[in-house]
Amino acid sequence: MTSHLKRFSGLFAAGLLSVAFALPAHAADLEAGKKIFDEVCAACHGTTGRPDPDNPTVAALDPQPADLSDPLFNSREPEADWNIVVTHGGPALGLSSVMPSQKAALKEDEIRNVVAYAKTLAPGSELYPPGELNFFLPVRTKKAFPEDEIVLKGRFTDAEEGDNPWRSILEVEKRFGRRSMGVLEIVYEDDGEDAEITMVEAGAKTVVHWNKEKGSILSAALIYGAATQSGESDEVIPYLAYGKRLSEKSTLQSSARVIVPVDDADEGEVELAGVVHYEWTVNRQAMFPALEVTATVPFDAGDGDSVQWTAVPQVRIGLTRGGHVALNAGIEFPLSDQSYETRYHLVLLWDFADGSFFKGW
Ligand code: HEC
Repeated sequence: MTSHLKRFSGLFAAGLLSVAFALPAHAADLEAGKKIFDEVCAACHGTTGRPDPDNPTVAALDPQPADLSDPLFNSREPEADWNIVVTHGGPALGLSSVMPSQKAALKEDEIRNVVAYAKTLAPGSELYPPGELNFFLPVRTKKAFPEDEIVLKGRFTDAEEGDNPWRSILEVEKRFGRRSMGVLEIVYEDDGEDAEITMVEAGAKTVVHWNKEKGSILSAALIYGAATQSGESDEVIPYLAYGKRLSEKSTLQSSARVIVPVDDADEGEVELAGVVHYEWTVNRQAMFPALEVTATVPFDAGDGDSVQWTAVPQVRIGLTRGGHVALNAGIEFPLSDQSYETRYHLVLLWDFADGSFFKGW
């Protein structure tokens, strides 16, 4: 280990250990919540959580009230977000002001009860991974939660020799089934001589296990990368991704990705990555710091030296009020000998399940 690396891994471990592992648990009163829901919310959302389009009051609303009985919608939204929306009204998360604030009408625990009740309105939603486990997208670590998202990634490498290459990736992710996601990626590279699409990747990811109380989620994915250039090999890329809430204000994500060139499997490598995000505020339109560490291990690594370590300090910047459009910027420093000085990463993501790109700025 280099001294650099020791320092970084020390910091990383300290970060992990210094956070509390206890999560606050308070039971809500569902019966009291139902009473409030029927009195206050049902006029728009319907007593079952499904707005009745034949009701003239509902039909006159623009936009239409959310269908709280839809298990995909109900499961993917964290309860904390619904607390914010019900307390402060739609605009607090970039939604419409037609969704009224209840701050003046209801007490804090009444809001907690009615939101907890609203969460029960979609039978079967417990078969979908809960939005509480949808952590911030890291720069290198793979995410476990399935998304409806468009991601644009840019990477600029400050090389030690020759031209500084650019790489851009356009990624489209779409949920299917209860716990799965399909993904399509187009990789475009510009090394100063050639600028072209070098790879097209397609695959799927599925959540294999989660535990809402423990705040943990595990996914498995399989991606096939088709090289567009002759002479370049296609790749098979299976990975595991794990996420864990460490405390109210911090999350850990880690992934193990195996990259196997189809033409020469011995040339493959394993990419390990882990990241801790510090969620210091519930406000989504904010900056959240994170520290990520990666290790790339070639299949034929004879001695420990050929393992490549990097550290990627980064910041997530929520651009919209609900954070459904966000930037992620990071600088990657090699901690072991590498052919580049630094890499600059910029990631723009748009979670299209939460509305149009232009909503809630
Ligand atoms: C005047 C009609 C109206 C009332 C009353 C109302 N809502 Fe809404 N609600 C809406 C509309 C409209 C939306 C959709 C806003 C949008 O999509 O921009 C919405 C959205 C929501 C959402 C979705 C938030 C998200 O993450 O997308 C939740 C949860 C919700 N309401 C819960 C409640 C609860 C609980 C109550 C009662 C305390 C309530 N609403 C009362 C009209 C109403």
